[in-house]
Amino acid sequence: MFVKSIGFENYRNLENAVVYPEKGINVICGNNAQGKTNLIECLWLFTGGRSFRGSKESEMITFGEKISRIFLNFYSEEREQTIEIDIAGGKRRAVLNDVPKSYMSQIVGNFCAVVFSPDHLTLIKNGPEERRGFINGALCQIKPRYAAMLSKYKKILNERNALLKDIPRHRELEDTLEIWDEKLAEEGALVAVERFRYIEKLMPEAVAFYEGISDGKENLEIEYKMKCGCEPYMDRYEIAGMMLKALRSHQNDDIYCGYTTYGVHRDDLSVKINGKEARSFGSQGQQRSAVLALKLAEAAVLEKEKGESPVILLDDVLSELDQSRKNFLLKKLDRNQVFITCCENITEAENIVRITEGKISKSEE
Ligand SMILES: Nc1ncnc2c1ncn2[C@@H]1O[C@H](COP(=O)(O)OP(=O)(O)OP(=O)(O)O)[C@@H](O)[C@H]1O
Ligand SMILES: [Mg+2]
Repeated sequence: MFVKSIGFENYRNLENAVVYPEKGINVICGNNAQGKTNLIECLWLFTGGRSFRGSKESEMITFGEKISRIFLNFYSEEREQTIEIDIAGGKRRAVLNDVPKSYMSQIVGNFCAVVFSPDHLTLIKNGPEERRGFINGALCQIKPRYAAMLSKYKKILNERNALLKDIPRHRELEDTLEIWDEKLAEEGALVAVERFRYIEKLMPEAVAFYEGISDGKENLEIEYKMKCGCEPYMDRYEIAGMMLKALRSHQNDDIYCGYTTYGVHRDDLSVKINGKEARSFGSQGQQRSAVLALKLAEAAVLEKEKGESPVILLDDVLSELDQSRKNFLLKKLDRNQVFITCCENITEAENIVRITEGKISKSEE
């Protein structure tokens, strides 16, 4: 999969233009605050995801304007395809191959990309929610049906939580909890099976990448940890059984808290470097390499599953890596279309675009 052209109107500080990137590695050079991350963010929006900076829609529109329009022409599934996104009134609206879509989620899985920015260090540093979000996002791109499973689970979870809050005032409702426990366990097991399967595929890729980037000196381990103690070899019925048991035995705690304390919304992905939790013991550099390993493993799995390599968006990684790590990274990615930003004046790369005050131009070099 690759981008043939990307256009933008009133997008942050980017000057209105259409840009035609190369199929291989595209280096986006420029000083600070010129619009490099803005360009990466704009490309990412075509996956259907939200801004990886956590920005609101209104923040993406150029100051003083009311509407922003961005469009993408990309090659995938042996044909040219288009996505157009309008951002206005705090909302985004997408048109995929000239067909308007009601929800952004309906374009997920068409234009596939993997993004890494320094903000993604939170994937290791923050709590489990961030890591579940990583697994969820990755799975949604591979298997749009997973998004439906997840939203069904969340709906049941919300119903159960609402009931938990009502029970102290209406004790007679306690009997109905059992129905929600069963539904939640059943639906949660489907989600858990998908996550276990995904991590099984992700692990060898992430481990190999981490070994490569650390020159064989360090090792990475990842494991999907279910709070109710289920293991990857279990089938959905066994998992549902254990979940139901956990839900039933914690009913009183849950009524007391007013929310559900067990289930796939409480699980975590353990990431260890040399046998120690990366979150608590990893150095800054180790954490960065671990996130990079997870992201590029995500791309490798996506490629295997879809038969097409996703576009790789790397914001601010080059400046942090020494020459051998840089070489390893770029060599590893040479089959993908890559957009990589940097502040230095790189001359050795083939396709360099310069960005100055939001204006994009081909480098003379
Ligand atoms: N909605 C907007 N309208 C106009 N300009 C904006 C908008 N949002 C952000 N900007 C401006 O875009 C500029 C460039 O931002 P960006 O984060 O892309 O820089 P960068 O090139 O990635 O810099 P760095 O190297 O420091 O990461 C900032 O100066 C910011 O003020
Ligand atoms: Mg930036």
